[in-house]
Amino acid sequence: MDLFNSYFPFTVCFFLLASAFYTDIRLRVIPNIITLPVIVGGILFHFYISGWSGRAGNVTAVFSMKGGQGVTSIAINLADQINLLTGDKVLIVDLNLYMGDVSVFLELPSAYTPFDMVKDLDRMDKNLLFSSLTQHPRGFYILTAPDEVNDAEQLSSDDITRLLQVLRRYFDHIIIDLPHNFNERNMAAIDTADNLLLIVQQSMPVIKNVQKALKLFEELGYDEKKVKVVLNRCLTKSELTAEDISYVLNWPVFASINNDFIRLTDIINKGKTIDMAEPDLKINRDMEILAGLLTGIKLAKKSEKGWSEIISRFLPLLGGAKA
Ligand SMILES: Nc1ncnc2c1ncn2[C@@H]1O[C@H](COP(=O)(O)OP(=O)(O)O)[C@@H](O)[C@H]1O
Ligand SMILES: [Mg+2]
Repeated sequence: MDLFNSYFPFTVCFFLLASAFYTDIRLRVIPNIITLPVIVGGILFHFYISGWSGRAGNVTAVFSMKGGQGVTSIAINLADQINLLTGDKVLIVDLNLYMGDVSVFLELPSAYTPFDMVKDLDRMDKNLLFSSLTQHPRGFYILTAPDEVNDAEQLSSDDITRLLQVLRRYFDHIIIDLPHNFNERNMAAIDTADNLLLIVQQSMPVIKNVQKALKLFEELGYDEKKVKVVLNRCLTKSELTAEDISYVLNWPVFASINNDFIRLTDIINKGKTIDMAEPDLKINRDMEILAGLLTGIKLAKKSEKGWSEIISRFLPLLGGAKA
């Protein structure tokens, strides 16, 4: 049961605290001898129920104005990189309720979906959640989109907000793959998110649409800290540079990801993440940099990484690897 969504725990806490305080006053022993342990017990109980985490996981929504910009590719590989960098609990939520791609890209069956989870919200606890979610062999979890065509309208924007509120108690990083529209469910997810990655390609029609989106986000009070423009399929030889785009949008470009259609298509067809299939690709480094920027983790420079790899390769020859 999701105890936090009911008044039950607050009523119990209030009565326990009031009776402890009353007993303290009546006994006139050392002040607070009963009240204090009750308060400490209450705090421990709170941590126990919320999975020992007072955590409010960081939510990153990945969005673009139209399909084909790279939202799903970025959401998946970002989750993989954040998982690698931090070792924290990472979850991808596929909110494409009509036709989600995350499980398709990763060749996993569709399992526990946002529909299932909303039905279970009132009885949700750590065991139910982690036994229901799909876990990728790399370690991150997935709340998959449904396999069958369904009535997405069954889910309200409040359902999405509640779902994310519950999930952020159990996960340190939540990455949402958003559909390409401004319906109420999407807006609820965007509103809850700490970061909104707005995926942009170097094309003037796309940039003009992004201008409109940024205007809307500004009206909603979102600033540059929340809305982060990410250039995808970035071509260094393009006439539209990152500086030009930033100038036209009047918004900073947060990160850029290289264009590598052939390699990425191949990797997606194999059902892998970039780091699993071809860790040395430039787009993999770009995804790692994006993960570093979002988590605030300083990355090893490429050369440092290279040296550690060389040393670890030679250690077994020196007989020191298994020490
Ligand atoms: N950085 C990139 N370089 C080359 N191709 C990319 C890149 N990012 C995405 N793509 C390609 O773009 C296509 C659409 O990507 P996808 O992630 O499905 O976009 P969306 O979720 O926005 O519809 C895919 O074929 C994918 O391989
Ligand atoms: Mg997609």
